[in-house]
Amino acid sequence: MEISLHNQVAVITGASSGIGTGIAKSIASAGAAVVVNHSSERSTDEAKAVLKEITDAGGKGITYQCDVSKEDQVVKMFQDVISEFGTVDILINNAGIQKDSKFTEMTIDQWNAVIGVNLTGQFLCAREAIKEFLRRGIDPSRSVACGKIIHISSVHEIIPWAGHANYASSKGAIRMLMQTLAQEYGADKIRVNSICPGAIQTPINKSAWETPEALNSLLSLIPYNRIGQPQDIGNLAAFLASDLADYITGTSIFVDGGMTTFESFSTGG
Ligand code: BGC
Repeated sequence: MEISLHNQVAVITGASSGIGTGIAKSIASAGAAVVVNHSSERSTDEAKAVLKEITDAGGKGITYQCDVSKEDQVVKMFQDVISEFGTVDILINNAGIQKDSKFTEMTIDQWNAVIGVNLTGQFLCAREAIKEFLRRGIDPSRSVACGKIIHISSVHEIIPWAGHANYASSKGAIRMLMQTLAQEYGADKIRVNSICPGAIQTPINKSAWETPEALNSLLSLIPYNRIGQPQDIGNLAAFLASDLADYITGTSIFVDGGMTTFESFSTGG
């Protein structure tokens, strides 16, 4: 059994670092052309380095700067990608940020920034992707589905998270966005799912793993007793985007080493 995404084009948002990079590499190694999206001028070199790793390994793609929270930029990104590659088959809605704060001190800017990227960004990209899927229709030389969307959510779509109300709210909302789209476009053969990562070793949660003390306390929340790696998410993303997963739609899959078993209950309750 081989995961094949040959002949397909995938947009991966927030792919210049962390989980997005892991996903871009997996999707490219399964044969799709990848759009390594990054949010700003500052992340250009990182995005280029990711693309170089991909092309050195025999993959293909481009980098593309676009802030997913901005409607005009998202619309233009999809137009440009479609004129470059002809169409889009797979959207990995990955770009996400944290702006943590005690709730009573949370500013409107912290709230809006997180909702803007994590939720509005996923809405805008999904809308443009679905429009393109419907325009193209099913092409069996590419996939039996008309298009695939994978939302990158979090264990915090179900685990409340004190000090992170904006982030947890954005992830809880992604679940309903994902399920609604799966319901609305199922008959069109568009598959929509979420991956919910637990603690994956990336820049976003550096403070949770950079010292042995922090890592130990993090591991006490993870039955499988290791921190996750971007590839753990990339592996599932490639499978979910492929026709091997053709009967999977409208669901959230947790990749978290058991974090959502609520490890603290192993000795209490
Ligand atoms: C967050 C990380 C956190 C993990 C588990 C993720 O969604 O971005 O900062 O370590 O959830 O709590």
